[in-house]
Amino acid sequence: MPQAPEQTLMEYPQTVLSGTPWIRRSTLAATALEAMPARPSDAQEALIADIHDSLRGGSQHSRYTQRHRLAALDRRLGETLAEHGARQRIRIHDMAASNAITSLELFEHLRDRETVLLKASDYYDRLHVVNVGDRWQVAFDVDLKPIQYIGRRMMVCARRPDPDAPTVDTIVKPALQAVLLPPALAALRSALDGTRAHPVQTDQYQQVSLFHPRCRSEAASDPRFELQHDDLFSPAPYRYDVVRVANALSTDFMSEARIITGVRAVAATIVEGGLLVLGRNAAGGDGPARGTIFVLKHDRLVPLADVSEGYQHKEAVRQLTLA
Ligand SMILES: C[S@@+](CC[C@H](N)C(=O)[O-])C[C@H]1O[C@@H](n2cnc3c(N)ncnc32)[C@H](O)[C@@H]1O
Repeated sequence: MPQAPEQTLMEYPQTVLSGTPWIRRSTLAATALEAMPARPSDAQEALIADIHDSLRGGSQHSRYTQRHRLAALDRRLGETLAEHGARQRIRIHDMAASNAITSLELFEHLRDRETVLLKASDYYDRLHVVNVGDRWQVAFDVDLKPIQYIGRRMMVCARRPDPDAPTVDTIVKPALQAVLLPPALAALRSALDGTRAHPVQTDQYQQVSLFHPRCRSEAASDPRFELQHDDLFSPAPYRYDVVRVANALSTDFMSEARIITGVRAVAATIVEGGLLVLGRNAAGGDGPARGTIFVLKHDRLVPLADVSEGYQHKEAVRQLTLA
């Protein structure tokens, strides 16, 4: 088991190689997540946040999340559930949850007052990591796109280089790609061998969960809190009393038509009379949460309660006819 990179954390701000966005200290490698304890220190929390920030979730999304950023939405949902009267059991699905730290906060907010089952999911919920020789690892996302080249002392982001990046970036990355990618892909295909669900972990291949260690620990000890892979545009066909999508359906990342496709897809997983919570933090993600709680009535999503000025695309959702 690798050691949590606590001792290198103090030097971390100085050692991120300045001006070279693709080359970072190996402390930012996603594999560092595996070594994090269930109760990370503040410095380790900062590192976890930076790793998620550097990973991105597909080409359109950031993975950025932050503790407490959705607290106002949590409180409003708690009040709405209380106004609706207690139920036997409330099934909640928090989608596009990144490392699920805000899902855990919602669960903690509600679990003492309601009988709550909370599932947190994200499409980019894990990485596949393959060793190439004994010096390098290549991390791939769930779509088998290379994400990071991880050496002993450096990590190179495998995303497309910025044309304005320093020359060192544009030399090192293509060189690593040419040498590491073909053997890494061959090893990955052999490890997956037609089944992506439960590939065999070997000396050469491992999976790294992208869920926060606190969330993994909670899911291991409380069956009412679950972590899953799911795609908000094509969700698994279960039904929930409440679905929340925060900071994922916004014209900051995609067209309004794509947002509506996502809303239709997730609405199909809500029971009649159930709730859909849509929200976004202001100022590109760091500002106060704004959002709307909709109730599903027949084929319409009817706004029930707002947080701050409400969800950015509330009117488009209100006008939607599901069917
Ligand atoms: C900005 S984060 C939001 C995290 C959390 N909901 C919050 O508000 O703090 C957006 C997340 O959407 C995820 N994502 C992107 N496409 C997705 C899809 N098709 N289905 C589910 N999740 C997706 C990304 O992996 C990323 O973790």
